[in-house]
Amino acid sequence: MNDMNNKMISAAEAEYVQVPETEPARQYYFIEKAKKHVEALKNELGRTPTCCVTTFGCQMNARDSEKLTGILRQTGYEIIENEEADFVIYNTCTVRDNANQRVYGRLGFINSMKRKNPHKRVALCGCMMQEPSVIEKIKKSYRFVDLIFGTHNIYKFAELLCTMFENEHMVIDIWKDTDKIVEDLPVERKYSFKSGINIMFGCNNFCSYCIVPYVRGRERSRKPEEIIKEIKNLVADGVVEVMLLGQNVNSYGKNLEEPISFAQLLTQIEKIEGLERIRFMTSHPKDLSDELIEVMKHSKKICRHLHLPLQSGSTRILQAMNRRYTKEQYLALAKKIRQEIPDISLTTDIIVGFPGETLEDVEETIDVIRQVEYDNAFTFIYSKRTGTPAAAMENQVPEEVVKEGFDKVLKTVQDMAKSRVSRLTGKVELALVEEINEQDSSFVTGRLSNNTIVHFPADASLIGKIVPVYLEECRGFYYVGRMTDM
Ligand code: SAH
Ligand code: SF4
Ligand code: F3S
Repeated sequence: MNDMNNKMISAAEAEYVQVPETEPARQYYFIEKAKKHVEALKNELGRTPTCCVTTFGCQMNARDSEKLTGILRQTGYEIIENEEADFVIYNTCTVRDNANQRVYGRLGFINSMKRKNPHKRVALCGCMMQEPSVIEKIKKSYRFVDLIFGTHNIYKFAELLCTMFENEHMVIDIWKDTDKIVEDLPVERKYSFKSGINIMFGCNNFCSYCIVPYVRGRERSRKPEEIIKEIKNLVADGVVEVMLLGQNVNSYGKNLEEPISFAQLLTQIEKIEGLERIRFMTSHPKDLSDELIEVMKHSKKICRHLHLPLQSGSTRILQAMNRRYTKEQYLALAKKIRQEIPDISLTTDIIVGFPGETLEDVEETIDVIRQVEYDNAFTFIYSKRTGTPAAAMENQVPEEVVKEGFDKVLKTVQDMAKSRVSRLTGKVELALVEEINEQDSSFVTGRLSNNTIVHFPADASLIGKIVPVYLEECRGFYYVGRMTDM
């Protein structure tokens, strides 16, 4: 770091006699401080420094990245979507091993870029960083990384940024867990008209294959008034659709000082004027209440879509997975939902190759897919996650058996979806226009209430608007249509 940089820091420090101890004030102090560092870097480079946040994994991580971007923007970085940037941040996922491998692949490539750009800095954060073995590997084989932090202290990003600027060596700050929720920090949304909202963090379910409870910590809910306040502010800023995020939204609010159910939270959110659509993810079948079905049934804003992860259709495997429902209970729940809300789309997650799974178990899964008639199902090959109970199970399934089961499940899902999704052909439905079509710029891409995608001719002026679309032709998982009157 050159002299000028050091001068900037002491000037910044002199301005503040004391670093605030409470949040979020403390982070706002560090945002100001980081600004001086970025300003110094700008003078050195003779241009505005750029940064790039690359996200792996689920919607939780996507929302976390918006928080990182919000802070980076405030500190004066120019945000770009190119890893040539002066500062690259990887927000990582570790739910399956291929997510980890992708990060290591990217790091190899960044190393060579860093040699060419001495100002380049690299940060790693997210779920993968909560695993001690990952940190050991990075310390050993990726010594060029400048900053590593985890999922629990992400709110401290501005402070960590300052520490990074003030240190030549790798800065590592990982917390095992937290009960803290810091509100009111800057966020920058990817889309102007829709937004994810965290309603809870962590997970207490410990499904035996899953790493999430270990890397995201114990379940904690945000207070309803904080959630409502955030949504109201978003709506005032042009948001029409929100996606409420939690690993198991159905257990929202149970541990709050003043307990409240997820269904009650939805009822409050429904009342927010100007908000048009409400989505949520994810619902654990074991906690889905009749109260929720009732609220969804009568709601004008809750979208006609429910993601209800099945994981397996075999009761024996479900038990080994610690999912705490049987095949019959799941089927009964799906039936009840379909009876009460006939136009709903159901989607799911399936794992093939869990320890001890036979092709007969896979047949049970296929049977559920046929009975429930999902609009879509995300099918994953079981990935062994160190530290989870399933990783220690002895009866891991041979690769060729997994492959056979996986192909069968995938084919069933695709065939099912084709006939299911097309049920709206010839109808008019409302679509929220999300973006210009990637392949043909004379088309836009919109999303129906039931989460199906529709492409139709229109221009960018409609982005963020909800418009009626005639669904002309179904092509597998999506529609091609045209705008019409309601
Ligand atoms: N909280 C959500 C899921 C989060 S992880 C829920 O309970 O539904 C998203 C999906 O990844 C899971 O639904 C599961 O299907 C899959 N998954 C999780 N751990 C996995 C593993 N070890 N191997 C393969 N797939 C896994
Ligand atoms: Fe993982 Fe199960 Fe928690 Fe979902 S509910 S995050 S699958 S442990
Ligand atoms: Fe991955 Fe973490 Fe989400 S492990 S799926 S990014 S909670």
